[in-house]
Amino acid sequence: MPIITSEIAIRYLLDGQVVAIPTETVYGLAADATSDKAVAQIYSLKSRPQFNPLIIHVDSIEMIEEWAIISEFAKDLMKEFWNKRKASISFVLQLKKSHPLSLLALAGLSTVAVRKPNHPITLNILKEVSFPLAAPSANRSNFLSATSAIHVLNSLGQQVPIVDGGACVVGLESTIVDVTQSEMELLRHGAITEMDLADFGKVSCINNSAAIKAPGMLTRHYAPLRPLKMNVLTKEKGMALLGFGYCSDAELNLSESKNLNEAAANLFHCLHELDKDPFLSIGVQPIPNTGIGKAINDRLMRACAVT
Ligand code: TXA
Ligand code: MG
Repeated sequence: MPIITSEIAIRYLLDGQVVAIPTETVYGLAADATSDKAVAQIYSLKSRPQFNPLIIHVDSIEMIEEWAIISEFAKDLMKEFWNKRKASISFVLQLKKSHPLSLLALAGLSTVAVRKPNHPITLNILKEVSFPLAAPSANRSNFLSATSAIHVLNSLGQQVPIVDGGACVVGLESTIVDVTQSEMELLRHGAITEMDLADFGKVSCINNSAAIKAPGMLTRHYAPLRPLKMNVLTKEKGMALLGFGYCSDAELNLSESKNLNEAAANLFHCLHELDKDPFLSIGVQPIPNTGIGKAINDRLMRACAVT
């Protein structure tokens, strides 16, 4: 496996190269967010359409102030969720007129999504390189996200160097909230829920059929190679059953004790495991649509979608 130390990763990143790094949500495919040349490699390694902007990772609010407009309200949210709760949330902000970020990473938008990841290795890398890192999830575009180094290898191949930071503890991508208007707009469900945000003000949820605000959110996404079915109660022929709650018939179980956080952390790992012969399809038992269960169902729904 192309595993490298974080010292080497820092050297590669300073040299404009791409490295897979661990975060608490999923592994990211990182490069210098101020370099078009470095960022271009991310799009090509992932086969990602260039209209889909990347999240910009930082280790401090100060780093963002240089190039984006942070309202007092947004700053309070960042302090609360990033610094106090160490929570997995990305904020969409208005860019300043002049900024050093790669236009390719922004996909030509006048806004930028920023996130402070909560993984000691990646926070240290950010501190050492001292530029922001553009990092989408470290998987081939539209396929399953990677929650371990081996998933990255299987999805992107030998050419991508990986810093192995262990299994991702959250296991689902960050919540994305647009804070450019007075009302918050939830663009992607994640561990921080609409209810968590509602403590701070009015939140609306993006309607999937509305204009594309998070350009990566509409298409088939997060998908295994095998067809996936949600809310499966009885196993079909050739189907691998992914259980939730005790189930003697299930090949694997997201959480026998019906713990939604445990289910989120296990989701991509289980889907990677079941997306193999001899199975012809994957069925997932019903997941309650509350708390982080909403984010789990959101990912499953997109994985089922037909392009
Ligand atoms: O947890 C995460 O957020 C992971 C880890 C690696 O940090 N990253 C991640 O990145 O999930 P990615 O590229 O797979 O998803 C980023 C999403 C895409 O749907 C993209 O369209 C949206 O963020 N996005 C990026 N910039 C945006 C912007 N300015 N406005 C709205 N959506 C944006
Ligand atoms: Mg992704």
